[in-house]
Amino acid sequence: MTERIEAKISVEDEKASIDSESEIIESSKNDELMKEGTQSIPQIDYSDFREESQLLSVKGLIDRELSEPYSIYTYRYFIYTWPHLCFFARHGDKYVGVIVCKLEPHGGLKRGYIAMLAVDGAYRRLKIGTTLTEKAIDTMVLGEADEIVLETELTNRPALRLYDSLGFIREKRLKRYYLNGADALRLKLFLKEPIYEEEDVD
Ligand SMILES: CC(C)(COP(=O)(O)OP(=O)(O)OC[C@H]1O[C@@H](n2cnc3c(N)ncnc32)[C@H](O)[C@@H]1OP(=O)(O)O)[C@@H](O)C(=O)NCCC(=O)NCCS
Repeated sequence: MTERIEAKISVEDEKASIDSESEIIESSKNDELMKEGTQSIPQIDYSDFREESQLLSVKGLIDRELSEPYSIYTYRYFIYTWPHLCFFARHGDKYVGVIVCKLEPHGGLKRGYIAMLAVDGAYRRLKIGTTLTEKAIDTMVLGEADEIVLETELTNRPALRLYDSLGFIREKRLKRYYLNGADALRLKLFLKEPIYEEEDVD
């Protein structure tokens, strides 16, 4: 396991430097579907975890889209422990997106964790990633989560923008977090107002 060295960063400086880079040239609004002549937005169905075959259907997608692939045992750990925190997006019978999360006690709080989020390259910029994340957040709110955290590569602009738009803040930089040596950012979404104790005024 790579040593994970945490270093605090100036959240605003980091945001500014990433946002000032040139725009990502990745396809806007679903280029591949357009090429096929399907101009309309495809009908995407969302579901939670029901059976192992769903897992096998998305394993390839996650392995392809995430820089750090996981073993089937890791997927099973998450999905069978927190099946209600795993959501799939389907176009017809094709699985085109997935989010995998957990929710457990952490330092006196209830902390949600987004372990994996991936959308098929041909189905990007259709708000599938946003919808999957919103479903996970809503379910964690029902589960009384205090906060949700995740890590993503420092240079992963699509993911950073998506999470920014949902209210996540950039909490810290994790040096050489990934096995490929890349740095990560830890993002956090606060779900509850802090409780301040009133001081006695005598
Ligand atoms: C990150 C990812 C899940 C986004 O999925 P998606 O369904 O395309 O995202 P959405 O359509 O919901 O996009 C929401 C917002 O994120 C931002 N965004 C998404 N893709 C972007 C891109 N390529 N460039 C710039 N901003 C992007 C935009 O602000 C977008 O809103 P807009 O389309 O109204 O401008 C997808 O790109 C992916 O699977 N990437 C590879 C795996 C990965 O990085 N996972 C996250 C690891 S934590």
